[in-house]
Amino acid sequence: MLQDEKVKQQLIDTLYQGLIDEMNSAYQYIALAGKHGNGELKQAFLQYAQDELRHADRLMGILRDLGEEIQHLPIVQEDQEDVYLYLIEYMAKEESAVFYYEALEQLVAQPELQMLCRSMRGEEQMHLHQMRALYQKLKETAK
Ligand SMILES: [Fe+2]
Ligand SMILES: [Fe+2]
Repeated sequence: MLQDEKVKQQLIDTLYQGLIDEMNSAYQYIALAGKHGNGELKQAFLQYAQDELRHADRLMGILRDLGEEIQHLPIVQEDQEDVYLYLIEYMAKEESAVFYYEALEQLVAQPELQMLCRSMRGEEQMHLHQMRALYQKLKETAK
């Protein structure tokens, strides 16, 4: 495989992984909003779901621009019985999403895509911070 093709394949694989993760996150957040918490918590999770869906849409756009025909994407609903444990797990996922967009920025060549990666990275960072605050608040009110 030529070096250029290798880099392109790596970019495509990375984009697929991100797309699957974003769609799964959106799905979990919607389910979580349905199951747990008060109005504030539900609204926060719907907002995250909306952001993650937008991210998924952007990643899919890049894949299509690269000529990819996108078929089946595995979406799985996770167990969410313990909302505290789940929030901890999702904070870790948001943190890894921050690193994901940092890595993706290194893989894309066009400046406008690099800028897009930076802006999505900023949103993941915001999710992480907000979720940390929500978690604290939830813990306090449960006492
Ligand atoms: Fe996202
Ligand atoms: Fe996020």
